[in-house]
Amino acid sequence: MYDGALGIITAISALKVLNITRRIGRLRRPVEVIAFSDEEGVRFQSTFLGSAAIAGVLPVSTLHVQDKSGVTVQGALKINSIDATEENLLQLKYDPKSVWGYIEVHIEQGPVLETAGFPLGVVKGIAGQTRLRVTVKGSQGHAGTVPMKLRQDPMAAAAELIVLLESLCKQPDEYLSYDGQCMDSTVQSLAGSLVCTVGEISTWPSASNVIPGQVTFTIDIRAMDDLGREAIIYEMSNRMYQICDRRSVFCHIDRKHDANAVICDQGLSSDLKSAGYAALKRLTGENPDDVPVLMSGAGHDAMAMSHLTKVAMLFVRCRGGISHSPAEHVSDDDIWAAGVAVLAFIETHIN
Ligand code: GLV
Ligand code: MN
Repeated sequence: MYDGALGIITAISALKVLNITRRIGRLRRPVEVIAFSDEEGVRFQSTFLGSAAIAGVLPVSTLHVQDKSGVTVQGALKINSIDATEENLLQLKYDPKSVWGYIEVHIEQGPVLETAGFPLGVVKGIAGQTRLRVTVKGSQGHAGTVPMKLRQDPMAAAAELIVLLESLCKQPDEYLSYDGQCMDSTVQSLAGSLVCTVGEISTWPSASNVIPGQVTFTIDIRAMDDLGREAIIYEMSNRMYQICDRRSVFCHIDRKHDANAVICDQGLSSDLKSAGYAALKRLTGENPDDVPVLMSGAGHDAMAMSHLTKVAMLFVRCRGGISHSPAEHVSDDDIWAAGVAVLAFIETHIN
């Protein structure tokens, strides 16, 4: 309900206020509110489809990427009356010279602001991310008839691979530092920001009395250090292939998506911070504490937009840090504060 939508609503509301108060004509530069499509990348395992297209970093091959049912991005757009070809995809790119900057308001999707007891925060940087799909193929068999010694069970192999991933990401220093792959600083930075997740798994034919023939699962890896993320993927892949060899199953690791970490623009972030402060002061009538500055572990369209222009982000507190769930919630007061902060930010750009 709020992940993404909140940013659009606050931006439209702020412009609406400027319009009602007859100040919109005094803006120093045009302002566009953009509702990007498919930031999550869950359907096609390829995030930021809308923002990457206008930033000019969406490979044209993305049009032919398929979802689980075999529908391509191009097909999905066609169903929605959009005729996307490789040629007109390239034309979507904005001219970098025509863009001054980009700001994005988003729910935090984590517990930091709630813990700090603060409704708004400014984002310092966004972690880089990679998504992979691992396919493990073994020998399908009857659960009752194939002796344990004769099995090539992809489910048990997948379990070992997933536990390996967890250990690697919990203790990257134990896996990376001693074989010269990584500098100390990289390992230290990984220890602070590396997170790895297996969020989706499927098995075929998926019956309780059958040893599956194939298991596929996704891996999502994020870190602030791009070289460190690469080192983890390298180490993880080598070790995964070794496990698969030992278990006599076939493994394939398919790289689906990559986005490098982004550091937000200092000037724009400082303006956004002042706007957040001004909004809270306007709403409470008191001097608030300093607006917190935090990192984003979640991916955002600002990552794609950073290829086009300078970016900054404002985070809004969400209950329990929960997102991607029907339990996602932001209080009315915090939505109000976010809208007033966007307004305060835009007000610094009117004559
Ligand atoms: C989006 O919320 C993501 O970080 O995956
Ligand atoms: Mn999201």
